[in-house]
This record gives sequence, C-alpha cells and structure tokens, in this order.
Amino acid sequence: MKWWTEARFGMFIHWGLYALPARHEWVRERERLTDEAYAKYFDHFDPDLYDPRTWARLARRAGMRYVVVTAKHHDGFCLWDSKLTDYKATRAPCGRDLLRPLVEAFRAEGLRIGLYYSLLDWHHPHYTVDAFHPMRNDREFLERSKNRDFRIYVDYLFGQVRELLTGFGPVDVLFFDYSFPGPGGKGREDWRSEKLLDLVRELQPGIIVNDRLDLLEAPGGWDYRTPEQFMPREGLRVDGRDVPWETCQTFSGSWGYHRDESTWKTARQLIVLLVEAVSKGGNLLLNIGPTARGTIDRRAVDRLERIAAWMTLNGRSIHGCTRAPEGFAAPHNCLLTWNPVTRRLYAHVLEWPPGELHLDGLAGRVAYAQLLHDASEIPLVEKGRETGFIPGQRPGADENWLTLRLPVLEPDVELPTIELFMKAVP
Ligand code: GLC
Repeated sequence: MKWWTEARFGMFIHWGLYALPARHEWVRERERLTDEAYAKYFDHFDPDLYDPRTWARLARRAGMRYVVVTAKHHDGFCLWDSKLTDYKATRAPCGRDLLRPLVEAFRAEGLRIGLYYSLLDWHHPHYTVDAFHPMRNDREFLERSKNRDFRIYVDYLFGQVRELLTGFGPVDVLFFDYSFPGPGGKGREDWRSEKLLDLVRELQPGIIVNDRLDLLEAPGGWDYRTPEQFMPREGLRVDGRDVPWETCQTFSGSWGYHRDESTWKTARQLIVLLVEAVSKGGNLLLNIGPTARGTIDRRAVDRLERIAAWMTLNGRSIHGCTRAPEGFAAPHNCLLTWNPVTRRLYAHVLEWPPGELHLDGLAGRVAYAQLLHDASEIPLVEKGRETGFIPGQRPGADENWLTLRLPVLEPDVELPTIELFMKAVP
C-alpha cells in the first residue's frame, strides 16, 4: 500500500455511453430505458476528439498520482476490445479500443493505473433482474428473462477480469462496483467474490483492491475502504486500527458527464477536500466525466488547473503526508498534515486570522516556519520570550503553545499553507 498511501490524490474517470444522454450515468435505471431505447447511444458513440494524453497531463499537473477508469460501468458497455462481448467501443462507431491508449497515456505521465469494473451489468443476457435493474418493473421483460442463468454471467465476469488483468500490463488498482446483499440484491455468493479475489491476486500479485466485493469481514477481503461522496468525521478505523481509505468525490452531482447539472464545487472546496482527507490519513479520488466527443468539460478543466496551480506550490504538504501525530492539536480554522519522513508539519489556514496563530503543544519544538507557496519566513513567538507582551494575553513561560506571527493580508493562494520544520528529536 506504500505508493498508494503516499500518492494521496487520484483521478477517477467515468466515461461510457451515458456521456451522450449527458444526464447521469444511471440514466438507464432512472428512466427505465429498455435495451432498444438505450441502443441509440451505442449507435452514436464516436468520441472524435479523444486524446487521453491531454487528460493524463491535466491529472499529472494537478498532482494526481493514479487514475481509476471505468473499463465497464453498470450499463455493461466496455471501453476495451473484450473478446467476450460485442458491446464494446471497437464495435461502436468510434471503432477502436479506448482503454488501451488511456492506460498508455497515463503511464507515460508517470501515474499508476487503476481499473473500475462494474459487477452489475444491465446489458448481459444472463444478468438476472434485481432490485436495481432498469427493467425490474417491466412484466414482459421479467417474463422473457425468467430463464437467465446467472452462472453464465459470472463466468463472463471472471473472463473479463482475466482479460483486464492480463492484457494491459501491470494494473495497480482494481475498483469493483458494487455489492448489495440481501433480498433482491447481490453479494459475495452471487459474484463468487472469494474466488474472484483469488483470481485477481493470482494474476496481479501486487494489485490493490477496493472494498465492494461484500468481503468486509473476510481476512484479506479488501485493501482499502471507499467512502463515497462523503468525508468521514475522522480517519477510518477497524478494530481500533487505522485502515487505508479513499473518499471518491465528484466535481458536481454526477459521475458521468452531466450537461445541465450545476452544483459544481469550487476549486477551493476541492482543495480543502483533499487537504482534509490527508489530515485524516486518507486519499481523495476526484472524478471527471468526459463528454462523448472525448473532451473534458470546461468547468472541470478550470478547476483542475486551479488545483494544479495550488499543488505546484503546495504539493509537498499532500504527497507522502498524513495526519499529524497525537498531541499536535489543529488550531481553530486550520487543518494539519504531516510528513513523517521530513518531519514537517503543515498548517492549512482555512480562515486567515489578522496577525497571529497559536499552535497548542508545539512550544520549543519548531525550528523554523514559512509560508509554503513562497518560502517567506513566518516569525515564531515562543513562550512569551518576545518583548512587549501583555501578561495574561500572550503565552507565558509555563504555557506550551507556539505563536506564529502572520502577515495581516491573506496570501493570494486558494488555501494558504504554513510549513513548520520540527527540531531534531534529541
Ligand atoms: C456508485 C454508483 C456509480 C459510481 C460509483 C462511484 O456505486 O453506482 O454510478 O460509479 O458509485 O464510486
């Protein structure tokens, strides 16, 4: 997990036929679209401007260190040239494998490769109708699909996973999505999750697998947890121990390209999400939903570029960082991240105070402080040793806090970060 934990920031990509209706990747389910009704998207899928090198460059510049891309989403459409189906990019008007060039482009930019594979499949003729199937209320469809044999689908699933893990070189992450055990649902027995995971680990021993196979209780059943669209209150723990986790989040309210959705988070909100995840020991997987031309929405590009500007200057408060050690309390309106190797502490100041910032528990422990984006000194005021203090209003010699003397003007960056160099431990 070492590279993954140090990476802290990845790009999620939801791309497929649902980019054409451009109203959520669950459009088939939401609008109960039949195979025939959904077919027009397959018939018109032709991303003529697709150049994954531009996507990869954007990701790398934003400080993202890995990518997770939907090889297949719930609608069953495959971006790669699977030998096991015709429902794939090579048979759509674009007539080419869309996954391979993406994997190559991201690798060329130095990013690790993750594949998302949907366990659900609303297209496969033997995927049995369940509580989320778009046709679940269609009597005629139910009648027609009475004789579906789910084992045939599961063989297909195993076969496709084998293709993905043998045909694209080293795959660093596999993101299965998802299980919903219980009545009308599907879980580990249906997917044969244990066997599936054995196959995955056998084909790619170094791979990291998410937690959606319904194997939460099984030893080795997952490598990291995936809180979706929310920030855990604290880091995630299992039996009192910290576990690796990653929150996946969208720019706006949809994973697939959604033309008319307007709840876009600002660049600053996204940077805060990233910092907050790291301050709690987690990763952020931030999603783009490219268009059916193969381009990335201006709104996403704009935010990625702002994140890139921030990361260029502040990336070392993210990469390789984690939550601050016990006893370093975050001051009011700050998030703390910590690099255990360089032993530098980062205070990300959410609300810029006019003049000073007090850090509890840090008196005598910091050697030097600076604004990270321009390496300008932040003077330290320790234990009231500086002259002119009004007793009782400034830290006294017996107090254990450190005061940073800040400029009154808030630095002109999306989120100002102060870098604190700790004294060597005696
Ligand atoms: C959900 C949704 C899906 C999305 C995924 C991302 O499970 O079904 O559309 O791909 O979350 O984590």
